[in-house]
Amino acid sequence: MKQYTLCETVENTALSGKIFQIAFVWKGEKPQAGQFFLIKPKVSSVFLARPISVAWADAETLTFLIAHKGIGAEELSLLREGEKAYLTGPLGNSWSSFLNGLSSAEKIALVGGGLGIAPLLGFAFLLKDLGRAFDFFAGFQTALPLDWRGLEPFVVTEYGATDRKGLVTDFLRPEQYGTVFACGSFPMLKVIAKSCRAQGTPCVVSMEKRMACGVGACLGCAVETVNGYRRCCSDGPIFRAEEIFYVEQLNYTKLA
Ligand code: FES
Repeated sequence: MKQYTLCETVENTALSGKIFQIAFVWKGEKPQAGQFFLIKPKVSSVFLARPISVAWADAETLTFLIAHKGIGAEELSLLREGEKAYLTGPLGNSWSSFLNGLSSAEKIALVGGGLGIAPLLGFAFLLKDLGRAFDFFAGFQTALPLDWRGLEPFVVTEYGATDRKGLVTDFLRPEQYGTVFACGSFPMLKVIAKSCRAQGTPCVVSMEKRMACGVGACLGCAVETVNGYRRCCSDGPIFRAEEIFYVEQLNYTKLA
């Protein structure tokens, strides 16, 4: 069990009415792309810390993108520079473990819906460093004024002032890629898994679940898979899509 560390807030910026960007000093283990932390303000009225994916990690800071959803998130949104929060992590598996066996000649698609872009950002920086070819699709309801730090995502908005209007899934062509890596809402992932399966393109997804312990002990984050129940926090949160979405006997995951 990893210990909680009291960390100082170094940035807290509202990106939109719905999303804020917050950064903490972090001198512990550096997270790999796709991993998450449990976070809770030092002074909080909630018992459980929130699981939040790392958007990016610099030498001594961790940055997170968080939606104003729930009391825990609201409390985090109110932290000012210098105020502290408890963090534990990095937790969960990483996207990189799914790169094994994928030819470096094959182009990769990253597809993020809403805050689903957050765990993909670190992966995009990693792929860039590795010189791997990839396209980064980012879907929002309205555009998010994010500093993309040199990435050039293909941004699609439902209501924004852009010609790329619609759902991000409208623009993805799985047959053009060696593997699709996706994170977002369950319905979005289901659509992507279905189109990848139709084209025979491997698909890897990061799942979102409510969590308590974050380390595989409480079974509160169980996900039904073809291999039985698996823990989102410690077996995941990243899984092959066929494990989650191709369980044909389950009504909620039926693809037909
Ligand atoms: S949150 Fe406890 S097992 Fe995953």
